[in-house]
Amino acid sequence: MRPRRLCRTAGAIPATVAAVLLSAACGRGAGAPPRDALQEAFREDGLSAAEAEGKALFAARCATCHGGEGHGDGQNAYNLSPAPPDFAQSLAKVPPADRRRIVEAGTAAVGRSPLCPPNGRALRAEEVDAVVAWLAVAARPAAPGAEEPAPRSWRPRRRSP
Ligand code: HEC
Repeated sequence: MRPRRLCRTAGAIPATVAAVLLSAACGRGAGAPPRDALQEAFREDGLSAAEAEGKALFAARCATCHGGEGHGDGQNAYNLSPAPPDFAQSLAKVPPADRRRIVEAGTAAVGRSPLCPPNGRALRAEEVDAVVAWLAVAARPAAPGAEEPAPRSWRPRRRSP
């Protein structure tokens, strides 16, 4: 009885592996599921996978100056002149090609100050795409009268009943 049960279990393993591989392969399509918990959290904000990845990269590489939402309120912003602008008010005037240029080569590359550093060597091409995708979200002006949402960490946690 024991060896037979072992056999049955062993037989189930390849099937499980195949199922996992299959679902991973299928997951790469248009409606790809979020890749990790961080992306999952950002998806709650209604972002696409690329925008969520861009926002996470922005949090890591840009937010010290620009603030997590790109409002120009990063911890290092007070130190800079010109200060990083609030994307929601300024970025609409910067064409997408220039945004990409700034991400890759810094603001100096578009004839502005050298304060925004180049990131073209640190980021892969797809990562630059993701950051540029998120910049388009950050460029949207806040709806008139809309209240600024509280930062995520301050929101009361939803409890399941
Ligand atoms: C060391 C601080 C710092 C970091 C880090 C930084 N920036 Fe900047 N950024 C600035 C400053 C300062 C400006 C304004 C420069 C100017 O006007 O000459 C700026 C301007 C910009 C602009 C133009 C905004 C507009 O509306 O005109 C974009 C886009 C931008 N940064 C994107 C990024 C991205 C994306 C990253 C990360 C990959 C990043 N920055 C990292 C300081 C920073």
